[in-house]
Amino acid sequence: MKPRKDEVLEKAKKNAALEAVKHVKDGYVVGLGSGSTAAYAIMEIGKRIKHEGLRVLGVPTSHQAFLLAVKNGIPVTTLEEHPALDLTIDGADQVDEKLNLIKGMGGALTREKIVAHSSKKLVIVIDESKRVKTLGENNHPVPLEVLPFAVPLVMRKIKKMGGKSVFRESAGKVGPVVTDNGNFVLDAYFGLIQNPEKLECELKVIPGVVENGLFVGMANIVYVGKSTGVETLKNKRSRQTC
Ligand code: A5P
Repeated sequence: MKPRKDEVLEKAKKNAALEAVKHVKDGYVVGLGSGSTAAYAIMEIGKRIKHEGLRVLGVPTSHQAFLLAVKNGIPVTTLEEHPALDLTIDGADQVDEKLNLIKGMGGALTREKIVAHSSKKLVIVIDESKRVKTLGENNHPVPLEVLPFAVPLVMRKIKKMGGKSVFRESAGKVGPVVTDNGNFVLDAYFGLIQNPEKLECELKVIPGVVENGLFVGMANIVYVGKSTGVETLKNKRSRQTC
């Protein structure tokens, strides 16, 4: 019998995650990403702790990642205790040819970016559907975490920049999505993003924007999972600063 489409996708995500977890070594402090693909990596780290006696500590990027780490027996720590991480494994929503990313469809972008910047290496795990030539393809938005008080200002500024922002509503309750940090999320549409470096800096200076979902020059390796294997994309990390 032919495997179902969703089974093929889950297998692809898992394949990428398993490849990424090979980077984890004994004694590492690892950033634990959020989302459904990173979840496979967290589960695999848990398995290695159980079966190989691997000693690692995890810094979760969200409440989801925290709960999953606890469930899978990964001891968690904080950036206060371990400010410099060896590695972070995380998912992404779009990855362009230079390995720039859009993240944050799960609303965890702020902690994800902080943890990624705290890590020596950022390994991204995706399935093929996330690869694009140019960020913003298929009308994909850039998620913004925004202070509730600043929402009207941020929406006006995005409009002035030629974009359009949509307030993210919760699927599980009435009203807004509230992030793990108590803020709201705007999805900002800019069409094709030809210069993600510039856009990231323009978003950074809007008062009330806590963080934006553009991760420019951050990823070292992207594993693209397929149902039959994994493709490896590598990059020299440049770490964008505005
Ligand atoms: C969470 O805010 C995001 O940045 C996720 O990493 C991203 O949405 C990828 O999630 P999936 O692996 O579930 O697609």
